[in-house]
Amino acid sequence: MDKEAERWWSKDTVAVVTGANKGLGLGIVRQLAKEGITVVLTARDATRGNVALESLKSQGLHNVNFHPLDVASQESILALAEWLHKTYGGIDILINNAGIINLDKDVTFETVKPVLDTNYFGVKNVTKALLPLLRDDTPGGARVIVVASIYGQLQHLENKDYVKTLSDREHITEDFVDSFVNHYLKDVVDGSQKEGGWPNWTDWVNSPVGRPAETYSVSKVAVIAYVSALHNTLVAQPGSGKKINVFSCCPGFVATDINNNTGTKTVEEGADTPVWLALHSPEEGIGKFWADRKVVDF
Ligand SMILES: NC(=O)c1ccc[n+]([C@@H]2O[C@H](COP(=O)([O-])OP(=O)(O)OC[C@H]3O[C@@H](n4cnc5c(N)ncnc54)[C@H](OP(=O)(O)O)[C@@H]3O)[C@@H](O)[C@H]2O)c1
Repeated sequence: MDKEAERWWSKDTVAVVTGANKGLGLGIVRQLAKEGITVVLTARDATRGNVALESLKSQGLHNVNFHPLDVASQESILALAEWLHKTYGGIDILINNAGIINLDKDVTFETVKPVLDTNYFGVKNVTKALLPLLRDDTPGGARVIVVASIYGQLQHLENKDYVKTLSDREHITEDFVDSFVNHYLKDVVDGSQKEGGWPNWTDWVNSPVGRPAETYSVSKVAVIAYVSALHNTLVAQPGSGKKINVFSCCPGFVATDINNNTGTKTVEEGADTPVWLALHSPEEGIGKFWADRKVVDF
């Protein structure tokens, strides 16, 4: 994949991937493991995680370990952080990949909450818990990648005030992103998503995913914004002595369970951009949204 001179990583490099028992997560683990990196494959279900681990071992990839992680559970997140600390001391790469879509046509608090808890709060809580473990001596800086989606581009939001504020990438704050998500949740409870200018699910019936994706879209807007906000926070922290490069990206439309395997890219193709960002960490694109190895519009 890369010229030897660019290879800063080795078997001592540690990467953690969430939601990695199948789909893109498993593809990302496989590509990183093929590079010789030590990879921690995490999954919320230990059986599914271990089956995935064994499948990699049967392909000759023995530099992968498994640890359980439910990104929607703070207890599970803290248990992973403690285990990583004890086992490796620190990590170099975190890839937040776990994600779900709401299959129900009813957009209610009950159907929306798990999507936001996984796709937004899960990413944020995992990242916060593992930030202290990111090493200060990773060449070029430690890396945090968030697998988002083009469904999170601002063109899908009708609320022009949010579009204006979120477009101002250098001033987005983590508190503002929280308030954006909580406002959406409140509008769902009040049944006022249309007045709130949120992506209207009726627009999504004919979308490639073939079913309503309002909440998914909001959650992906939120994580793309969170990556910019986190970058702003990290840059503003003077003298922390640690360089951490954060990126969000879309893998493309990939054939996995999330879209009933209707995607047009293979998992290996979809894993390419998140893995490339993790390995190359392009300085000019830190905090930004990527697809096909290029910065694209939020
Ligand atoms: N496929 C695409 O076309 C596409 C396009 C854009 C973005 N994405 C994004 O890519 C990421 C991966 O999706 P995918 O396409 O690979 O879908 P997938 O095959 O359905 O995989 C999703 C993974 O996330 C895991 N997961 C769900 N909730 C979790 C939780 N609470 N804790 C830990 N893991 C959890 C799932 O575990 P279980 O097996 O236990 O459910 C599974 O391993 C998602 O963030 C998705 O939004 C995908």
